[in-house]
Amino acid sequence: MGAERSVKCRRDSSRNEMSLLPHVPVMADEVVEFFAGGPNEGLLVDGTGGAGGHLEMLCKALPGMSFLAVDRDPAAVSILRSRFIDNPEVTVRQGSYTEIPDIMNEMGLLKASAAFFDLGLSSIQLDEPLRGFSYRFEGPLDMRYDDSSGKTAAELLNRMSEKDIADIIYKYGEEGRSRRIAKAIVTNRPVRTTLELAAIINGSVKGSSFKVLSRVFQALRIAVNEELDQLNMLIDNLDSWTDAGARIAFITFHSIEDRRIKLLFRDDPAYRQHSPKWIIPCEDEIKENSRARSARLRMGIRI
Ligand SMILES: C[S@@+](CC[C@H](N)C(=O)[O-])C[C@H]1O[C@@H](n2cnc3c(N)ncnc32)[C@H](O)[C@@H]1O
Repeated sequence: MGAERSVKCRRDSSRNEMSLLPHVPVMADEVVEFFAGGPNEGLLVDGTGGAGGHLEMLCKALPGMSFLAVDRDPAAVSILRSRFIDNPEVTVRQGSYTEIPDIMNEMGLLKASAAFFDLGLSSIQLDEPLRGFSYRFEGPLDMRYDDSSGKTAAELLNRMSEKDIADIIYKYGEEGRSRRIAKAIVTNRPVRTTLELAAIINGSVKGSSFKVLSRVFQALRIAVNEELDQLNMLIDNLDSWTDAGARIAFITFHSIEDRRIKLLFRDDPAYRQHSPKWIIPCEDEIKENSRARSARLRMGIRI
């Protein structure tokens, strides 16, 4: 990464009001500036609508466009629907971003002139104990964005082999003590709740810190939601539903995701890398919103 050219964000103090919202959009000014420099008519797809923070700013900055917001989580979709109920330019649909071509087809939309993805989970999901994403609150070990399908984190942990658990923790959590943690999980099965899992992790790693807990919980969330497979599926057909000249941006929070986007814009002939190659949040933003800490914005143009 060191050889790449990057730019740290400029901070607009008028964004301070954002910190009053339950989910603060990351690098919102930079995202808006990127899209405002591109087509200002046609369709902008927000493939990870979340609480609609970025979307609301994009709607204000690009009054000539229409917007499609998609989210896999039915709870996020309810928030989006009520937030944009008075805006006829915004359509909200529940589904994975891998289903965007089908959703656009159903709506009779051919191509998008802009696409935005803010990967991972929102603070609203993290802070809801019943979703099971956080080691800070007692809750069922669920972690599914869409609780109508797929296996919960508890089901995965209670069924998988010790080796597979260790591999997930190592690969998706980048945690070196993965084998020791996996062994403790298997010894203490069944694991049913977030705090049971947190206690097992703390008991297995000497001097365990919040960092270890975060890494293991992140790894499980990525595995439960098959996030890397989803991202690969999205990228594999992104060129089929984006128009020539479309601006495309991703905010990533994980090095594997970030590398995938870097290679997409650098090596795939269907895209041109936008300059700067990437942007990270400035210190002021990280102070106001610690979630922004590991974020990286990458931008490309569809050729
Ligand atoms: C970081 S949040 C987005 C926040 C949003 N930009 C905002 O300003 O409020 C990420 C969202 O992506 C959703 N998500 C995760 N994987 C998804 C997928 N495969 N398809 C669609 N949405 C997904 C999550 O449910 C979550 O609401």
